[in-house]
Amino acid sequence: MFDKNVYSVRRNKLIKALGRGVAILKGAPEQIRTNDTEYPYRQDSDFFYLTGYNEPGAACIINPNDKDNPFTLFVLPQDPKKEVWTGWRLSFEETVNTFGADQALDIAEFGKKTLEAMKTASKVFTNLNHDKEHQHNMLDMVGQVRKEVQRTGGGPEGLESIGSIVHGMRLLKDDHELKLMQKASDISAEAHSLAMKACSPGMYEYQLQAVLESHFVHEGGAGPAYTSIVGAGDNATVLHYIKNRDQIKDGDMILIDAAAEYEMYASDITRSFPANGKFSDAQKAIYSVVLKAQKAVIEASKPGVTFQELHDLDLRLLVEGMIDIGLLSGDVDEVIQNESYQPYFMHKTGHWLGLDVHDMGNYMVEGKSIVLEPGMVFTIEPGIYVNSKSDAPEKFRGIGIRIEDDILITKSGNKNLTEAVPKEISEIEALMASE
Ligand code: GLY
Ligand code: MN
Ligand code: MN
Repeated sequence: MFDKNVYSVRRNKLIKALGRGVAILKGAPEQIRTNDTEYPYRQDSDFFYLTGYNEPGAACIINPNDKDNPFTLFVLPQDPKKEVWTGWRLSFEETVNTFGADQALDIAEFGKKTLEAMKTASKVFTNLNHDKEHQHNMLDMVGQVRKEVQRTGGGPEGLESIGSIVHGMRLLKDDHELKLMQKASDISAEAHSLAMKACSPGMYEYQLQAVLESHFVHEGGAGPAYTSIVGAGDNATVLHYIKNRDQIKDGDMILIDAAAEYEMYASDITRSFPANGKFSDAQKAIYSVVLKAQKAVIEASKPGVTFQELHDLDLRLLVEGMIDIGLLSGDVDEVIQNESYQPYFMHKTGHWLGLDVHDMGNYMVEGKSIVLEPGMVFTIEPGIYVNSKSDAPEKFRGIGIRIEDDILITKSGNKNLTEAVPKEISEIEALMASE
């Protein structure tokens, strides 16, 4: 599966964009969970995108000004005593061969080599993520180098996020990424169908979570791509409900927003279904509004359309539907204008998807909504949430519904990566009734 050429193609693109700048990136640090035990390691997405390197303690310098060693990977050195605990480490030579680096060095040399690389660079690009220590170090070093070379006319002008180059690249998925994203989506889609089939009143939300997450791991996923949301009844109206501790009651509508990460790539799926396998009239009414909007927005997703146009269409259809079923009253344009839909629909229609579930990439370009192009992948996830304290008609209270699929823009339109999970009312009822 690992193909070092995938990453060298990306680095070559980056090198062209860097000009006389240098990219100096740090891998993600390990994160403590309790006392001296860590969370499972997750590499920084930009670092992984450019290197394919997925072990802690790493950094890299991608330097077009260094003709001998444009790509240096810094890693933890071999250490038999530590390797007993955490597994074998590659030698520097093996690291060079495996990852296509020009040289591999001990991470202890990263600071010294960074200062050297900065001296010949017009600008320094780095990953500005949650590693504040790294950010401070980089700023300090840029300042130090600027002082050293201040009368030579050299030295970097400043520090910039690598995202200004790489996030634009990450927005357009290559074939390697699309294969992995389809696999992440397939695993996640199967898991949703399993959860629908497994569900019955009396179960606990965490038991459905277990069905999903067990499948993610069983099929080779790293686990959930984000904390699973399994909300029954009123819990389904809380957008980021992640406690998943309550018992599921007959008559509840269930909302599951959960998906796998596979080989670093995220899927993101939401399905909503009745706990007892049969939609009530009120559940059916709201569900049909959300489904109609979701299908229409998918249908409209193609090259040339803007992200904002998709949201506008989504909002209009949701508002029209909410007026039709008596959840809102008034004129469609007025409701949109005065935002009186807000108690029931309060988020955007979707987001980019990739290495991060809320993937990097601009939504606006020069003040205008971005135009869709082949290779972009994003979610379409309209929802209606009527919590139990709402002043909506009583029959609608305690119903939360979202339907979310992952859409790839193609030359001719789009491909729904997650269409395998049922979402028509008749399909869901048939699946839940099956043995
Ligand atoms: N699962 C997070 C989201 O749908 O945005
Ligand atoms: Mn989403
Ligand atoms: Mn989601």
